[in-house]
Amino acid sequence: YEIYLDALEGRTPKYPVDFASLERKAAESLPPWVYSYVAGGCGDEHTQRANARAFEHWGIVPRMLNGAEQRDLSVPLFGMDLPSPLFLAPIGVIGLCSQDFHGDIRTAEASARTGVPMVASTFTMDAMEEVAPHAGTTPGLFQLYTSRDKDLTESLVRRAERAGYRGIVVTVDAWTAGWRPRDLNTGNFPQLRGHCLANYFSDETFRARLDRSPEEDPRAAVREWTGIWGNALRWEDLDWLRSLTRLPLLVKGLCHPDDVRRARDHGVDGIYCSNHGGRQANGGIPAIDLLPEVVRAADGLPVLFDSGVRSGTDAAKALALGATAVGIGRPYAYALAVGGTDGLVHQLRSLLAELDLFMAVDGHPSPAALRAAGARRVP
Ligand code: FNR
Repeated sequence: YEIYLDALEGRTPKYPVDFASLERKAAESLPPWVYSYVAGGCGDEHTQRANARAFEHWGIVPRMLNGAEQRDLSVPLFGMDLPSPLFLAPIGVIGLCSQDFHGDIRTAEASARTGVPMVASTFTMDAMEEVAPHAGTTPGLFQLYTSRDKDLTESLVRRAERAGYRGIVVTVDAWTAGWRPRDLNTGNFPQLRGHCLANYFSDETFRARLDRSPEEDPRAAVREWTGIWGNALRWEDLDWLRSLTRLPLLVKGLCHPDDVRRARDHGVDGIYCSNHGGRQANGGIPAIDLLPEVVRAADGLPVLFDSGVRSGTDAAKALALGATAVGIGRPYAYALAVGGTDGLVHQLRSLLAELDLFMAVDGHPSPAALRAAGARRVP
């Protein structure tokens, strides 16, 4: 009732609570090329649209008289007791979504204020060591794009360990950029403009590759980076990564049950089911439709999920289909663009309130109860 009561006292809502309104507002406030980069996807973007629409063909049967007026949204994950099952998916361009270009830090601040953990991307405008303290006591994970230079990959992992990140999420579906017409039509790829490379430019191993520092010659540094990024991982590389760190290791971008089983055999600690929000390959199947098979194949390993989550009830459906935690992607980039840290806090609190309210009225006192209730496919 907070929003209604505030309005009674003349404090009208500053930010919308629904995705469609938020996206419209973000389109008005972001520079067009940044908006296109965030909003766009692969090809005619039908996989991206299908991801979100597919939630409509899943439904949950309500349960009653079961004490759901008291709820506990917490979930255990790798020894972290998360207060809720939501997390912030890695978004590489997030710095550009903040008016001060410190979107990574603003996101960490919102994470601190809400307890919703962030998965910090490799592609940032602030180095990971600068971002981490702003998350306060909320744990965070580090998303790793591996490099063709193994020493550099190792250096990023070591830095993540030292900076206090609580797990490594290695993304395997984006070793090159997908066919994104909105960006191709404007000739824009932020990474190639040198944005979002703070983790590289601050890395001693990377700097040792350069004749002149990135401060003296940023274009040469970007050229150097383009030469070593774009590393397509193989299963044997996963063994190498596994041997590199004792932090929990997750693989992001797995949708096929055989790949999930294989990742499990290679000793990963968690699976991250995602099709990158339809930004990498068009023509796929909505990620939410593949989640049940992924969960079965994960055979008890935690499964993180994203792609198309736009509301608290979408998150509830993903939990009912077996996700351990649910990632918010594009919606949080828009919230940051519209209202900075406060806007993002408002959005996360709104998503959590919607999820909590759904669990209350639909009769599911906990994420475990939601999972037990399951979701049914509706025509
Ligand atoms: C992403 N995503 C992403 N994933 C990743 O592992 N590393 C990254 O750096 C990025 N960067 C990135 C930038 C932008 C602008 C977007 C929109 C997405 C993918 C992201 O983590 C997540 O999988 C998708 O955003 C999920 O889809 P929806 O729900 O946002 O449509």
